[in-house]
Amino acid sequence: MPMLATDISSPKVTVIGAGNVGGMLAQRIAANNIANVVLCDVVVGKPQGIALDLMQSRSITTHDRQIVGTNDFADTKDSDVVVVTAGLPRKDGMSRNDLLKINAGIVQDVVTKAIAQSPNAIFVVVTNPLDVMTYLTWQVSKLPPQKIVGMAGVLDTARFQTFIAMELGISIANVHATVLGGHGDLMLPLPRLSTVNGVPITELLSDEAIARLVERTRNGGAEIVKLMQTGSAYFAPSAATYVMVEAILRNRHRIVPAAAYLTGQYGLTDIFMGVPVQLGKVGAEKVVEIQLTDAELAILHSSADSIKENIDLL
Ligand code: NAI
Ligand code: 2OP
Repeated sequence: MPMLATDISSPKVTVIGAGNVGGMLAQRIAANNIANVVLCDVVVGKPQGIALDLMQSRSITTHDRQIVGTNDFADTKDSDVVVVTAGLPRKDGMSRNDLLKINAGIVQDVVTKAIAQSPNAIFVVVTNPLDVMTYLTWQVSKLPPQKIVGMAGVLDTARFQTFIAMELGISIANVHATVLGGHGDLMLPLPRLSTVNGVPITELLSDEAIARLVERTRNGGAEIVKLMQTGSAYFAPSAATYVMVEAILRNRHRIVPAAAYLTGQYGLTDIFMGVPVQLGKVGAEKVVEIQLTDAELAILHSSADSIKENIDLL
């Protein structure tokens, strides 16, 4: 039985982009009673309609949070967290990088407007290509890099965990996985650090099975795009983004895989890429360094090279 919310004082989260990910994220934030939400989109009527629908659902799901839909960034003023989901999703056959040029224009536009209203906000970026858009958000906002994180690792890890649980026929609750690197074909699922109740999957599955699950994880987004025909995944992506927003708002010091700014960790500098990050109210409190093998480090650096090539294209 959901509990009635009695405390509706701030915080305030702005979600830019009232599409599939943004709409579902607004629902999760409000229904879990962690913040009031402003949904901001360029399409007139869309965020207002979704906000009204979400407001009407409150009497059924029983919470008192406010959800406002708007096309005006003035309504986003003094947000504690700004989530950027504005942009185009992938179509079948399209890589995340194909989205680069068009989404860079959108992200530049919305971040410029959002930072003017909420200079103290923490930014969580979702728009693809993720690692590059996170870097762009940092450049445009001129915020300290710790105040910007990108969502992808929580999603990619969830996908790897799902495939491991399905392969072994066990509960997802028993699986813990680790995936590092960029949100792309060169992401780095780490089987030796992925466990079932502490036992590495390398002791439970054959090399062939692990290679298959790793490949399916790398193609996790494309597999769904192909099945859906229009649009891309949004249930797991919005859940993954929610986890990050909640960790920030509640200052949980929770370690999640996310795109964070690197200053020498893993031998990388001046890049946002997926690594374990400790999240709290200041944003990325700390990047956690895991000891990698030479082969793993080589894949991580290939992933970083690909991100840097795209940053250079901006
Ligand atoms: P969607 O198409 O359902 O929603 C995008 C929304 O952005 C639309 O409502 C659109 O009107 C809005 N928009 C476009 N230009 C705008 C502007 N200038 N200002 C404000 N709003 C604007 O797409 P969906 O599925 O919500 O995905 C959003 C983005 O997130 C895509 O780039 C997608 O590839 C990415 N994504 C990233 C994931 C990750 O793991 N990082 C996972 C899932 C999606
Ligand atoms: C995903 O991985 C499209 O990046 C998005 O589902």
